[in-house]
Amino acid sequence: MLPVLPVLAIESSCDETAASVIGAGGEVLGEVVRSQIDDHKVFGGVVPELASRCHVEAIDPVVSEALERAGLQLDDIAAVAATAGPGLVGCLLVGLSYAQGLAVARGLPFLGVNHLEGHLLAPFIGDAAPDFPFLGLIVSGGHTLLVHARDVGDYEVLGETRDDAAGEAFDKGARLLGLPYPGGVAVDRLAQSGDSSAIALPRGMKRRDSLEFSFSGLKTAVWQHIDRDGVPEGQALNDFCASLQEAIVEVLLRKTRAAAAQRGLTRVIVTGGVAANSRLRSAFAEAAEVEGWELRSPQLRWCTDNASMIGYAAAQRLLRGERSSLSLDASPSLRFGVTPGRA
Ligand code: KG4
Ligand code: ZN
Repeated sequence: MLPVLPVLAIESSCDETAASVIGAGGEVLGEVVRSQIDDHKVFGGVVPELASRCHVEAIDPVVSEALERAGLQLDDIAAVAATAGPGLVGCLLVGLSYAQGLAVARGLPFLGVNHLEGHLLAPFIGDAAPDFPFLGLIVSGGHTLLVHARDVGDYEVLGETRDDAAGEAFDKGARLLGLPYPGGVAVDRLAQSGDSSAIALPRGMKRRDSLEFSFSGLKTAVWQHIDRDGVPEGQALNDFCASLQEAIVEVLLRKTRAAAAQRGLTRVIVTGGVAANSRLRSAFAEAAEVEGWELRSPQLRWCTDNASMIGYAAAQRLLRGERSSLSLDASPSLRFGVTPGRA
């Protein structure tokens, strides 16, 4: 079989244009993440049309820079990969067609990657292969999922959110508090000098043994507080942020504990943009000590969207002989566990 590494991977599903080159041992040879946060900040969130346009402008220089950082040329690349979904359709199309064009022009194997599988395997970037089995908690801006992972592509979803994702709970709460986008980062920063027991906020638990999440009640409670008492300022704002953060982290931790116990799993992965949260990281580290978990989270730069996680997931599948069609389309609502291009 022809070599499939190094693989050049592209991520453009939302508001980061990213490219990365993954080498034969699963290591990052060179990567670039160009964030559009400053372009969208004035609108308080991602504007899809603007995001697509920014991707079009950024993609070529971002890919060139990633190759340069890797000390490689296009001739050295053995395969090409890109996020196929889920995400904003116009954004996905930019990275996907760029990668497909490159694969056609160079006669290289191509693979479309599920963005959520990228997040799930991100803690193993740098390792030749992930360590299975494990319990994975994926917490991002659009998804909250508990997964029993047995092998690459062998995933069982144990629970997901009924309404808002954990990242949305941070972002919507932050917006109500008048904080800038992306809200999770702002809440994390202010919460560091806040008292997490200051405001009683609901923990959307549903039944105790259920592994489903619900964060919409929390958003309503935040709104009701602000409607009654006004937007907090100064120390009161810090306290509010700490209380909001604690409510979200506590639910994530309790459900993860329940899932680990139900499945008898001791290897626990916490990943996705919200896994960058400092309180979440310390709370899970404390729990790991108590429960005897082997806990892994990605390095901070691989928690939020990046192309190295896409390249790493692609490498795992390419090494198993998987390929995608060069006419693979973008899948904006691709579900977790579904391989792009398959029903
Ligand atoms: O994984 P990601 O970059 O994009 C998606 O695939 O959605 O996650 C973005 C989410 C946003 O909701 C953002 O507010 C949240 O991750 N986030 C954080 C932190 N950093 C990013 N939430 C809490 N604390 C953080 N430090
Ligand atoms: Zn993501």
